[in-house]
Amino acid sequence: KSNDYIVQSVEESPLPIGYEEIEKAAKDILSPKAFSYISSGAGAEETARKNKNAFQRYSIIPKLLNDVSELDTRISLFGNTYPTPFILAPVGVLKLADDQGDLAVTRAASKYDIPFIQSTVSSFSIEEVGQSGDGPKWFQLYWTSLEDVSYSFVKRAEEAGSEAIVVTIDTVTLGFREKDLSYGYSPLADGYGQGNFESDDVFLSTLAEVNDSTIVDGIIKQINYPALNWSHIKKLKRMTSLPILLKGVLHPEDALQAIHCGVDGLIVSNHGGRQLDGVISSIDALPEIAKVVNGKIPVLFDSGIRRGSDALKVLVLGADAVLIGRPYVYSLAIDGEKGVSQFLANFLQDFSSSMVLAGVKNIKQLKQMKIVCG
Ligand code: FNR
Repeated sequence: KSNDYIVQSVEESPLPIGYEEIEKAAKDILSPKAFSYISSGAGAEETARKNKNAFQRYSIIPKLLNDVSELDTRISLFGNTYPTPFILAPVGVLKLADDQGDLAVTRAASKYDIPFIQSTVSSFSIEEVGQSGDGPKWFQLYWTSLEDVSYSFVKRAEEAGSEAIVVTIDTVTLGFREKDLSYGYSPLADGYGQGNFESDDVFLSTLAEVNDSTIVDGIIKQINYPALNWSHIKKLKRMTSLPILLKGVLHPEDALQAIHCGVDGLIVSNHGGRQLDGVISSIDALPEIAKVVNGKIPVLFDSGIRRGSDALKVLVLGADAVLIGRPYVYSLAIDGEKGVSQFLANFLQDFSSSMVLAGVKNIKQLKQMKIVCG
């Protein structure tokens, strides 16, 4: 419970307040190819633009005079209670933004008990991230073509205390990212994404078997895995007792199939427009998925969350929790751990104020708010 929103204050910090200014400041700090890698989408960036513009079509209708002097932003997921409905999205190669990468982010997120989803292609190992900060950690899996490597990661995540496994299903091969291709740039090739691989005995032994010359070659070959299908998900369910979420769900029938396969949660996402260009914006995909899922399993959301009021909209449209992506990555580039921490403080204040102004005092009331599209 908190009423911190009553006195709005923002500490002096090199981090600007608004998202557009944060993005600009990050652009000034990062090299052009690093900024481009983080900011760009696939193809003509149609989906990246849709993610942004679609939010403006949804309008909340506040219902007021509801004594909102005491706010409760808690949610429960998979038997855990979290103080806010926010989670940090898996973002690989974070050393690109700051030397401390995932470690700086987890320390900042721990202050707010916000779960951090560590990427398969993270700059640090599962164990290093597990020990960084005391906040909750989840693990994101890019399924590897050599299955034993995937299982090794899942085992390591279990042992390091991960609370959930997120299988990203929209990246069985990399999106055609025109800007990165023009720069001839891959942060994997720069060695920023191998924390988990270089520390994995199973992976290292497969390298020798398939005669890959470098760790980077091995990673690139193994995380391209177009053969991924529902049988893998069913098998993974049997391999671990951790909750399994699928990230990248946009089709309602995939949502139903996931429930059928025993999946524990979904993340409606189009990967921030970085994978298949032209796909539906994430916010437009959400209502139908929430409808067919009908509360059977939690539905999480990402792609386009920039401000507290964005989060409000997707929670009303049926999301149970909300992932933040690019804003924390830029904040990390601008001021490391302090930048992420300041961003989260501002974001949470913005979210609390938005709830108050919308006339709701907890997430249950929030989800019953009126929203119109058009
Ligand atoms: C990502 N995303 C991502 N997703 C994932 O499952 N594994 C990963 O390793 C990465 N890596 C990654 C790197 C960078 C630089 C970005 C920007 C994104 C996608 C991420 O989890 C999330 O879906 C998007 O960031 C959501 O879009 P917005 O809100 O950031 O625009």
